[in-house]
Amino acid sequence: MQKDKGLIDSEWKALERHWQSLRGIRMRDLFARDPQRCERYSLSACGIDLDYSKNLIDEKAMRLLIDLARAAELSRWGDRLVRGEKVNTTEGRAVLHMALRNLGYRDYRHEGRDVMPAIRSVLSRMRTFSEDVRAGRWLGYTGQPIRDVVNIGIGGSSLGPKMVCEALRPYQRDDLRVHFVSNIDGAHLASTLQHLDPSTTLFVVASKTFTTQDTLTNAESARRWLLERLHNEEAVARHFVAVSTNTQAVRAFGIDAHNMFEFWDWVGGRYSLWSSIGLPIALAVGMDRFEELLAGAHDMDEHFVEAPPERNLPIVLALLGIWYLNFGGCDSHAVVPYYQHLEHLPAFLQQLDMESNGKRVTRDGRPVSYHTGPVIWGAVGTDAQHSFFQLLHQGTRLIPVDFILPLCSHYDLPGHHEKLVANCFAQAQALMRGRTEAEARAEMEAVGLDEARIRALLPHRAFPGNRPSNLLVFDRLTPRILGSLIALYEHKVFVQGIVWGVDSFDQWGVELGKQLAGHILQDFEDISCSPGVDCSTASLVRRYHLAECDGED
Ligand code: F6P
Repeated sequence: MQKDKGLIDSEWKALERHWQSLRGIRMRDLFARDPQRCERYSLSACGIDLDYSKNLIDEKAMRLLIDLARAAELSRWGDRLVRGEKVNTTEGRAVLHMALRNLGYRDYRHEGRDVMPAIRSVLSRMRTFSEDVRAGRWLGYTGQPIRDVVNIGIGGSSLGPKMVCEALRPYQRDDLRVHFVSNIDGAHLASTLQHLDPSTTLFVVASKTFTTQDTLTNAESARRWLLERLHNEEAVARHFVAVSTNTQAVRAFGIDAHNMFEFWDWVGGRYSLWSSIGLPIALAVGMDRFEELLAGAHDMDEHFVEAPPERNLPIVLALLGIWYLNFGGCDSHAVVPYYQHLEHLPAFLQQLDMESNGKRVTRDGRPVSYHTGPVIWGAVGTDAQHSFFQLLHQGTRLIPVDFILPLCSHYDLPGHHEKLVANCFAQAQALMRGRTEAEARAEMEAVGLDEARIRALLPHRAFPGNRPSNLLVFDRLTPRILGSLIALYEHKVFVQGIVWGVDSFDQWGVELGKQLAGHILQDFEDISCSPGVDCSTASLVRRYHLAECDGED
């Protein structure tokens, strides 16, 4: 490992050696030897408790990982981030999403100018607008109050607000529903609009650039749907608002600038739910709760900036991820929230993590010689237990898991929550302990299996465990806790990006597919493809032309 690749050779080698030296350890034994292990490897901040004792680590591993972060100059990069320097080097942009939730009045500047007045002004407009809609003062074209909000946006302009709105569903009212349309597949928009009344529907067109094909196509179709039913262009002003950094394009689309909520190019798409991209959240749960969400994120920002590395939740989570990815060879990382309303969290984290750190070159353009971002995936427990957990327990791959669990429920159905909690704890415990041959044998003997059957079944029923997991618990998923939880993962991703030496804030890889889709769309005009198109794509274009789409089902 070379210094100029963003990683420091000696720290890296020490970690490689240490992983090898720990290969034979068993977490069961570590727990048996050290009754303080849980205490030693637990942290709390901002109402979130992290138990990371069920990891293949010892104190030396943690010390070496922290040395690695120091050697990668994490604190210098953290300072540069907070100072509004252009840490997104390939796009020449600052990364100031922390300013959006800056309730502690830290000084955030962009190109020397205080960004807070503009942020406060947009927050205040969001408050007025969301309160008007929620109170029924904002009326549709026919004079009726809004009952359904449809957010049209994709990626960062959808995943964050969609995840938060669902997570905070217990705080929503029944008479104002929020929907999210992202996919350019007409099925998404058509099926969403199917049961909506145009007179009581408000569209929020959310796009940082206001050039994204998926979003603009959906927005144009939504406007057509509205006009076909309300028969007057003036209706657009009562039923469409925009969230964007691109005033000109918003105007060109036909949305009045008065109906536009601004944000800025120093807010990355996947870090934008704290900006006016969060408007659907304010509409769904009210501006006070949106500000609680911001306050929770700010709590975590302060913790991240102030706490020493060994007590710092995002840093510890990031370093554990690096430990498994770069030294343990684990390609993927599962996120399993034990809360139904966090069902969109894995998808949100996929974009946050994989778009940020799915990079093959360092900031200065050299290919990395180590792995960067892991594959992030997951689903809610207990559903996940009945689908992919078998592979986590007994598959050939080691896959670290983050369990996320509210200890109190918003619902009072007798017996449900305690069973949910027990299942979550049990899965983490089972991953760690596995089942020894002696335990498996005893169980089979107890139900009277004969020796031949026991021998045949032992390799299947005994397994080593030793599978790592983190447990993130909190009392109840309030807006404030949710804000802290999201910011925790944002900072985790930042720390990993710094250690890997990559630009975590660009996403050039996504562009090529967008460009090629444009070319292929042109090729649909004519059966012959543009010169130089590969034969597979050309044949697919011909097949598309031949498809019989007009017949009955
Ligand atoms: O998919 C790439 C991407 O640029 C994301 O980073 C972004 O969140 C999304 O597209 C949507 O972009 P926009 O908000 O500009 O429509």
